Amino acid sequence: MRISLRAGHKGRKTLGMMPRPAPKIADIALTSPVLLAPMAGITDLPFRRVVAGFGAGLVVSEMVASQEVMQGGALARSRAELGLQDHATSVQLVGRDPYWMGEAARFVEANGAQIIDINMGCPAKRVTQTGGNGACGSALMREPDLALAIIAAVTAAVRVPVTLKMRLGWDDTSHNAPDIAARAAGAGVSMVTIHGRTRQQFYKGAANWAAIAPVKAAVTIPVIANGDITCGTSAADALALSGADGVMVGRGAQGAPWRLAQIAADLAGTVPPKIPQGIDLYHLISAHYQAMLAHYGADLGLRVARKHLGWYLDEAGRPDARDAILTATQPTAVLELLRIAFCEEPLGEEPQKSEVAA
Ligand SMILES: Cc1cc2nc3c(=O)[nH]c(=O)nc-3n(C[C@H](O)[C@H](O)[C@H](O)COP(=O)(O)O)c2cc1C
Repeated sequence: MRISLRAGHKGRKTLGMMPRPAPKIADIALTSPVLLAPMAGITDLPFRRVVAGFGAGLVVSEMVASQEVMQGGALARSRAELGLQDHATSVQLVGRDPYWMGEAARFVEANGAQIIDINMGCPAKRVTQTGGNGACGSALMREPDLALAIIAAVTAAVRVPVTLKMRLGWDDTSHNAPDIAARAAGAGVSMVTIHGRTRQQFYKGAANWAAIAPVKAAVTIPVIANGDITCGTSAADALALSGADGVMVGRGAQGAPWRLAQIAADLAGTVPPKIPQGIDLYHLISAHYQAMLAHYGADLGLRVARKHLGWYLDEAGRPDARDAILTATQPTAVLELLRIAFCEEPLGEEPQKSEVAA
């Protein structure tokens, strides 16, 4: 794919195309065409806050099991927790039963969700197999009529905009995303995001952004391209090949919560965000770490935080510090090791032995 360079506002070069307006989800105008993907176990409230702090068109919660949230499941409820009132946040629901999906939509709307997303993309066997919550996530792409019944139940239940995230299809013989997207738009869905892989690919191979183009051709609502977008160039390629209205970034934001803002600036030709280094990076990571401890409680927080700390260390090129930080069992020790890893200079006087003992 050949990328041309054009001057954007502020004189930087834009990648590939003229700057495009950020998409609107019904009457909600997004501030950027670069959105944070939902990731179970990752896009919790602390991480969404850090990403939103740098700038993101939209942040999406982890998937929330519809029946579980309605039956008072503490984990499901914590996943649906909002707390980012000043930033466009979507809560993603997963499930197979139109009744529970409608009820859960009502519940998260009442809790303040500005947008509700329906998960028809998750490939995990525990989600797509019958049993538990039933065959949901990407399995619903094999049952388009049920998928539409779920969409109709959710759009009828709430006043906030409803969006849909799915894959190209179940496998290479069934790229039915354009058909489902057109029917979903007819049922009131305001935006669709397409991960450019089939369910059978899971995360293997490369995302096929060109295969998203038929979805764009099938609907007039905004279409967002997703999969393997990690920088301005890949975002520009994905937009050019798919014709999509925006991009959604998942794994590219791990350990790099500034990545979405950086991609948005590259696309628009504006000044990119300052990527924190050294002591600034330490401050960012330690604030994120402490937010995770507060959100989950110290015991669970310590364990949940390890994956984020590992990504930060990878991103900052500090693999040498990994073992000590990721095996430490006391938050104070973790913070001290992070300080040593990221700060060139000590932050201040080392505590005296007597102070530590007190
Ligand atoms: C650990 C992990 C958890 C994910 N959880 C969800 C989820 O809860 N809901 C969803 O729709 N997609 C989920 N996804 C898929 C992502 O939203 C995204 O579609 C996929 O990672 C491709 O985008 P990327 O290449 O930018 O990561 C998850 C992906 C990963 C890696």
